[in-house]
Amino acid sequence: MKELKNLDCTNKRIIVRVDLNVPVFEDKITDHSRIHAIIPTLKKLIKNKNKVFLIAHFGRPNGEVNKKYSTKFLCPELKRLLNLKTIHFLDNYENKIIETRISEMNLGEICLLENIRFNIEEEKNDLNFSKLLASCFDIYINDAFSASHRNHASITGLTKYLPSYAGLSFSKEIENLDKFLENSNKPNLAIIGGSKVSTKIKVLENLVEIFDSIVIGGAMANTFLLSNNYNVGSSLVENDFINLSKEIQEKAKSKNCKIFLPIDVVCSKNLEDKENIQSYSINNVPSDQMILDVGEKSTKLISDEISKSKSVLWNGPLGAFEYNPFDKSTISVANIILDISSKSELDALAGGGDTLAAIKKAQANEAFNYLSTAGGAFLEWLEGNKSPGFIALKENRL
Ligand code: 3PG
Repeated sequence: MKELKNLDCTNKRIIVRVDLNVPVFEDKITDHSRIHAIIPTLKKLIKNKNKVFLIAHFGRPNGEVNKKYSTKFLCPELKRLLNLKTIHFLDNYENKIIETRISEMNLGEICLLENIRFNIEEEKNDLNFSKLLASCFDIYINDAFSASHRNHASITGLTKYLPSYAGLSFSKEIENLDKFLENSNKPNLAIIGGSKVSTKIKVLENLVEIFDSIVIGGAMANTFLLSNNYNVGSSLVENDFINLSKEIQEKAKSKNCKIFLPIDVVCSKNLEDKENIQSYSINNVPSDQMILDVGEKSTKLISDEISKSKSVLWNGPLGAFEYNPFDKSTISVANIILDISSKSELDALAGGGDTLAAIKKAQANEAFNYLSTAGGAFLEWLEGNKSPGFIALKENRL
């Protein structure tokens, strides 16, 4: 794979795919990580006096123009973080208009394009669209690892027509993930949470081959507990995945990977009922109770496992994280990793929106060697699959 870190390019017309799909609440960006991640690539291209166009998506407008999903609001943020005097914005993908804008721009300037997903061709990976767009540029850079699990025109299509490079953040993502999956210090531990086994089954199948221990939390642990004949009351479960949960545990045994499930849980009748929250041993969950977080004994068990480990990979909250106080164990785990990493040599890597939000809330960022900005793409990598965007860069011979 060709990488921007090994490329010196000056005075070129460069199209860069970035991921600016940032979380927004009441018109404010609540997490800037994805914007921060692309700054080194953009600074390098600006410093080397290139004309840089950015393609990004925001939300899922399904191929239709919808101002609610415009990328324009990102211009001031980019301008501020890059310390720019001017930033261009173009709401049109017509070649003539792009070419006119290129000719008007000075070297070292940036132009953000409107949400690429307003074009129906993007998600269809329409090669005519990619070819036409590519004809305006000299080089394509993918700095959007977190969107590279999508086989879209701006992720894979453009690589068919332009010399293509991985951006600095893209390279960093795969270097760190691969280091963890191929070469992490042992004993190694994976903490996997989230609400659905169905979305993580392939991840678990792959991780039991790599990790010495895996902690399973979040609502997905309920299906595992049920598969081991525990009563999980009225908790969220995926009945279709009970057998697969059993199979994962059997595979783990054969690979000498220890699986840890909650031994106690925090319950209520439902997410809204915060008056009647109770903890139970996993042997005694009443039928009308819903498991909403792992309990203190389980958190202590996780803490002991982290202490025994040299590397920890974390993805997914351990409870109903969005609903206070069911974020307790997730925040505690972030604090425990912070505490242990300050006293011993612990390599820690985390990824996924909720996990990063928990780490931020606990102010535990510094405990981690690497925080991936990717969600779905991170999971796909943990499954052991190379993303279409990565494969497209690797196969690029132009
Ligand atoms: C993400 O937020 O994970 C990426 O930006 C990809 O977005 P998508 O799931 O809408 O393709």
